[in-house]
Amino acid sequence: MLKALRSVVRLKPIERNRTARRLRSAANVDDFRRIAKRRLPAGVFDYIDGAAEDERAMARNADRFAARTLVPRVLRDVSTTDASTTILGARAPMPLIIAPTGFPRIAHPDGELATARAAATHGIPFSLSTMGTRSIEEIAEVSSGRKWFQVYVWRDRELTRDMLARCRDSGFEALYITVDTAVLGRRERDVRRGMSLPPKLGLDTFVEGALRPGWVWDFLRNDPIVFSNVAVSTRRLGKATEDGTSAVSLADYINGQFDPGLSWDDVAWIRSEWGGPVIVKGIQSVADAKIAVAEGIDAIALSNHGGRQLDSSPAIIDLVAPVADEVGGQIEIYCDGGVRRGSDVVKAVALGADACMIGRPHLYALAAGGEPGVRQLLDFFQSGIEQTMALTGVTSMAEIDHQLISDR
Ligand code: FNR
Ligand code: LAC
Repeated sequence: MLKALRSVVRLKPIERNRTARRLRSAANVDDFRRIAKRRLPAGVFDYIDGAAEDERAMARNADRFAARTLVPRVLRDVSTTDASTTILGARAPMPLIIAPTGFPRIAHPDGELATARAAATHGIPFSLSTMGTRSIEEIAEVSSGRKWFQVYVWRDRELTRDMLARCRDSGFEALYITVDTAVLGRRERDVRRGMSLPPKLGLDTFVEGALRPGWVWDFLRNDPIVFSNVAVSTRRLGKATEDGTSAVSLADYINGQFDPGLSWDDVAWIRSEWGGPVIVKGIQSVADAKIAVAEGIDAIALSNHGGRQLDSSPAIIDLVAPVADEVGGQIEIYCDGGVRRGSDVVKAVALGADACMIGRPHLYALAAGGEPGVRQLLDFFQSGIEQTMALTGVTSMAEIDHQLISDR
């Protein structure tokens, strides 16, 4: 009897490493999110997971990806599939980019160092935010891979100029200008919680912390979380700009420091200061995509900031075809907002995108398991893209076009 049982029951070997044990149960982005939710204090999780107002734009981003279907072709010899492509003139093993996000160290003490290393291992571009918690220089130290920097434009232009100089000195390849954040969107989860960044360790955090001791221990044991890029530039310039040493509400901070007067003239100024490739991130209309082409911008990122800014913004996947039909081939087109699987990437490419970017997914993976977590997430995307290609009968990115996706 025992022998018979043994022949059908295979026990999984016991995994001694706790992170590896946790990651073993993550089969998709939702799983990474579930683990992140369990590990992070509620206010921290909600800052990452939440979006503006009724969170309709965020839901629409995901729903519209889910609603689109592919048109599988069969009997086409898919014994090898190659997901590699060209992004800004250099090869990448898949059309995926790590989107810039603020404050990754609230998810994991290594923050961007872990994500930059994982991206370099996978050969895809990593993007660092102005609101990052690891500096341009620290990223350059751990990654010889492709590094892009996202600028928010300060009222004080000297700060912006200094960050660009530092990017140049540290071998950053390209620059994003994020244009959907004239003012910060109203994130009502943060309003309700009085969320500040870096998080204040108030009484409620400690009550929460009793339930999430791992996070509190990491938070107390590691160097304080500050806006590292701001801190370095303010030090270099001898300025007194708040660098996050004291907790601030993000809305007050952004609305006080960033310039809502930003226009295409400022984009031209940044391009001339920078001299390298520039991506305008946050384009949400065909009209603005056409201006970007006329201005000679290298790439646009169709993005509604993951639904964190204007809640009535269009679902990103619905923008790809109209924009690509108008300006495709004249400018590279990236998109983000709701990309959760390899099949989503294939859908975006079929509609005319050159690459997709992911925001929350890499933060969930970071919270779930640091660098190994992000590496596992990137493996999941790479194999998901290849599997979708095999199941739809294409073997290279060049073969993926409109015919692969249904009209609605
Ligand atoms: C962001 N995003 C963002 N974008 C940017 O240009 N600068 C930034 O500092 C940030 N910060 C930020 C923080 C957090 C917690 C999130 C979730 C997002 C937007 C990001 O780059 C990207 O556009 C979206 O995250 C894409 O949507 P998904 O993948 O999260 O659905
Ligand atoms: C956000 C800012 C930092 O989305 O861009 O929270």
